[in-house]
Amino acid sequence: MINTFGSIFVIKIFGESHGPEIGVQIEGVPRGKELDIKKLRSFLDRRAPGRSELSSGRCEDDTPEFLTGIKEGVFSGDPIIAVIKNKDARSKDYSAFKNTPRPGHADFPAMVRAKSDTVPPGGGAFSGRMTAPLCIAGGIALQLLGERGIEVQAGIASIGGFTEEEQMREAVLKAKEAGDSLGGIISCTVTGLPAGVGEPMFDGLENKIAQAVFAIPAVKGIEFGAGFAAAGMKGSENNDEYFIREGGSQCSDIYTRTNNAGGILGGMSTGMPVELRVAVKPTPSIVKPQRSVNMNSFKEEEIRVTGRHDPCIVPRAVPCVEAAVAIAIYDLLLWMEKRE
Ligand SMILES: Cc1cc2nc3c(=O)[nH]c(=O)nc-3n(C[C@H](O)[C@H](O)[C@H](O)COP(=O)(O)O)c2cc1C
Repeated sequence: MINTFGSIFVIKIFGESHGPEIGVQIEGVPRGKELDIKKLRSFLDRRAPGRSELSSGRCEDDTPEFLTGIKEGVFSGDPIIAVIKNKDARSKDYSAFKNTPRPGHADFPAMVRAKSDTVPPGGGAFSGRMTAPLCIAGGIALQLLGERGIEVQAGIASIGGFTEEEQMREAVLKAKEAGDSLGGIISCTVTGLPAGVGEPMFDGLENKIAQAVFAIPAVKGIEFGAGFAAAGMKGSENNDEYFIREGGSQCSDIYTRTNNAGGILGGMSTGMPVELRVAVKPTPSIVKPQRSVNMNSFKEEEIRVTGRHDPCIVPRAVPCVEAAVAIAIYDLLLWMEKRE
């Protein structure tokens, strides 16, 4: 099925940035588990716009409304449907470039795909806004993983090449002032995941995590452990040697001295922390003038992208990465349990 993720914990996301609402359908949540709605709300708040000087001025409270699958805070075992109303869409911001695809956006391929000469308002179904329902599903997966002692935590590794918090902040504000934008790198670690989670070939842990993480708009790369640097290492440098924890007598007492594999071998977890890094491109919407093509007149023209935008997507993408990783891991865990 198109635009669906997962085999047992199955997610389907629907809606558009400037439509009446966006939402998610989730299957596979065990009956009887409780949802900590406060925790979910604070997780969604980390992604929501309008919360800082570095994020878009679009003001959405992103309150999820559960239509099915949950009664008095407890999952019923039926598919969950949750929606978020779009309250602050301003489609008129898009009228200045109604027929002209914005460089770096999904506009051009989306217009060709839809056989349309009109830019989808707010990016339509390809908008960063679609990560709000992703975070509902991810927030639920994080809670279900947390119950098993599995934690997923992401953070900003760098922005515009800077790693110090104040330098990153200044760089973003400077770029914003210049009508420009910045990208960066998000790192993510999963702890508490037992060894052996992941399936052969197309359903490995790396595959599944990468597939889910690439659902986040503006993600352009992912690496696990030493990642691309492993290509320049010798086997003797890259291999992670095993040891047994003092007094240990079972598989969970076996560790590696290094973790160049990022906690994954053969697409399966090794029991070491799963470590990954995600490359986020600079926000495509920039005020600086850019060249494009009017798809109605079929003439080249210059456009300026106005409206409300994140000068840097990285801070808001951090919870999205946690959500995507949690969804992928929870689904594979359920698979492993089904096999047992
Ligand atoms: C949380 C989040 C917020 C985003 N906000 C914006 C934004 O304000 N302006 C913008 O141009 N792009 C924003 N994006 C990125 C675009 O949606 C994305 O770059 C575009 O749809 C093209 O997709 P691609 O970069 O994956 O190719 C955001 C992405 C995320 C994950």
